[in-house]
Amino acid sequence: MSVKPVIELTADGSHTLFVPELGEHYHSINGAIQESIHVFINSGLKCCTKDIVQIFEIGFGTGLNAFLTLLNANNCGKKILYTTVEAYPLPDSLIQELNYSQNHSKADQDLYHKLHTVDWGREVEITENFTLTKIKDDFTHFDFSQIKHNVDIVYFDAFAPDKQSDMWTQQIFNQLYDVTNYQGVLVTYCAKGMVRRMMQQAGYTTERLPGPPGKREMLRATKGI
Ligand SMILES: C[S@@+](CC[C@H](N)C(=O)[O-])C[C@H]1O[C@@H](n2cnc3c(N)ncnc32)[C@H](O)[C@@H]1O
Repeated sequence: MSVKPVIELTADGSHTLFVPELGEHYHSINGAIQESIHVFINSGLKCCTKDIVQIFEIGFGTGLNAFLTLLNANNCGKKILYTTVEAYPLPDSLIQELNYSQNHSKADQDLYHKLHTVDWGREVEITENFTLTKIKDDFTHFDFSQIKHNVDIVYFDAFAPDKQSDMWTQQIFNQLYDVTNYQGVLVTYCAKGMVRRMMQQAGYTTERLPGPPGKREMLRATKGI
């Protein structure tokens, strides 16, 4: 897949990227930040009662989910160990133009950029509360032994199944289930029945939750309830 995304404004004023080759956006055009907060922070991170939380993200992209998670961790005092996989890292020139950190302090803006500039393939402490490991790899051939610890929350943020079906397979959901801790969750903006059935087949208990603005539903899958 060759990726040459262009910046677009979404309904909440935050940017997203559009990939003309795929006809697909990185986020909801109804609000990128709103979607990320709703799906990953409020329906995923905030439901975890642990003090030390292992997160695994599929698709680092703009780093928006990582940034919002970092801000949340710094506020609530949780310690986050965040591992993310990305096959197509974005060029720095594009990252510099994204407006995700523009309403934040200079210190937070620097943290957003640090998420992008730290090395791939290495565990890096970004703040006292947030440690990041970025893995540059094709997730469709992912070696799960690269995940050092079992996971409490999976942020499943791949492009939609009708655009990239090889990211949404039974084998992938089985593997994610295997590396997830008891009572760990997987959250995704996608609410397709086919995806829900694969999660159930893998062993998860699934819930359809209200979706972010512009979307009726999203999915949360839990291991062991
Ligand atoms: C829906 S976007 C979300 C990205 C990110 N979470 C964000 O908020 O910007 C999907 C991401 O998956 C990445 N991706 C696409 N195919 C991939 C693959 N085979 N392996 C790993 N990442 C992939 C894309 O480059 C893109 O960054």
